Amino acid sequence: MTKLWGGRFTKSAEEWVDAFGASIPFDKELVEEDIEGSLAHVKMLAACDILSQDETDSITKGLKKILEKAKKDELEYSIQNEDIHLNIEKFLTDEIGPVGGKLHTGRSRNDQVATDMHLYLRKQTEEIMSEIQKMQDSILVQAEKHIETIIPGYTHLQRAQPVSFAHHLLAYFWMLERDYTRLEDSLTRLNISPLGAGALAGTTFPIDRHYTADLLGFDGIYENSLDAVSDRDFILEFMSASSMIMMHLSRLAEEFIMWSSQEFNFIELDDTFATGSSIMPQKKNPDMAELIRGKTGRVYGNLMSLLTLLKGLPLAYNKDMQEDKEGMFDTVTTVKGSIRIFAGMIDTMRVNEEVMEKETHSDFSNATELADYLASKGMPFREAHEVVGKLVLLCIQKNIFLLDLPLKDYKEASELFEQDIYEVLKPATVVKRRNSAGGTGFEQVKKAIALGKEKMSRK
Ligand code: ARG
Repeated sequence: MTKLWGGRFTKSAEEWVDAFGASIPFDKELVEEDIEGSLAHVKMLAACDILSQDETDSITKGLKKILEKAKKDELEYSIQNEDIHLNIEKFLTDEIGPVGGKLHTGRSRNDQVATDMHLYLRKQTEEIMSEIQKMQDSILVQAEKHIETIIPGYTHLQRAQPVSFAHHLLAYFWMLERDYTRLEDSLTRLNISPLGAGALAGTTFPIDRHYTADLLGFDGIYENSLDAVSDRDFILEFMSASSMIMMHLSRLAEEFIMWSSQEFNFIELDDTFATGSSIMPQKKNPDMAELIRGKTGRVYGNLMSLLTLLKGLPLAYNKDMQEDKEGMFDTVTTVKGSIRIFAGMIDTMRVNEEVMEKETHSDFSNATELADYLASKGMPFREAHEVVGKLVLLCIQKNIFLLDLPLKDYKEASELFEQDIYEVLKPATVVKRRNSAGGTGFEQVKKAIALGKEKMSRK
């Protein structure tokens, strides 16, 4: 089969080598973007009198027909035509004859592929941003229900101080807020048009790059043609923002996995998001959360492989760059799917409030409160820390908790203790009193929810 670029060649290609070099098995994903870019390009060629109106009309009609077929999944791509760009050019000439070959005037596959990927990633970034918002909404809904639900808070995975369950969930709201704004910010650099940079050096045709940029909704054009065709920073930024999203999801996934274990039993995941075991009938496994934790690795991997791919490349386009696509597609699919699943898990989880409540009464996470109590009555904090440490030890020896210790023992440790310590030591009081800005106190949590809602309404 003769190649679209076959003029200079004396030997015909071999199928097995073609198969190795082709990107069509994966870059067919870009079919709509490729046609969108071509439609803008041909419109510009007409506006700049590079093509006649007749030629333009015929190419436009042909491209639209191909787009229709693409949407119905009726196109039969061929490996011999290498990639999405050449496949479409071949469909076009089959459809409208040799005039189809004029579409490629003043353009190269190098600026074409870069344009396709900008269009693709802009759309996907926006979709992922809206998935993030939905997950933030899911968090807000659960948070609102659980302002006064108290769970043990941990440091070093040791019981530290009790916190509002809403406060714990909201921590992830703010992580997602940063993820959202990171993607939003990346769009300002992504939304620039490489189209018209040609193979690397620009073109002799009197094209209007600003016009195609406008038609395609770009905010501007790459100022340097070499940069335009060799830049993949926009994919790296997307992958890096995605890696952070996955890291956040993976941390929450880990908490969900722990919380739904028999040991914690803080939450129960809805059946939709769990699976059973083929051998152990009692099992309900948090598979989706585990998968999200696991998939984080491939998103990091995709970032690393693209960074590595680019690091030694001289300007401008090199075929190595064809390897940028699969990781990009995979990252998009993985991140989008993971956020969507997570929102569903949050919406449907059952929160075992009684278990949480019981657990907060079965530890020493109110000990700081007792030290603060003494300090507020004038004892230096260091000394108070020591006194309370000894009381904790006494409780451990007696196999009881601080709320069970008689006032007599407290008085013996320090005369500053009064009956009101029993109120102070209640987990709900402990949480409520942490009313400093951004703290877990109920008033603060309510404020945080209001602020979160306000952020959401501004999007
Ligand atoms: N399939 C190629 C890619 O994905 C398109 C650009 C090809 N350009 C070239 N000069 N061979 O990178």
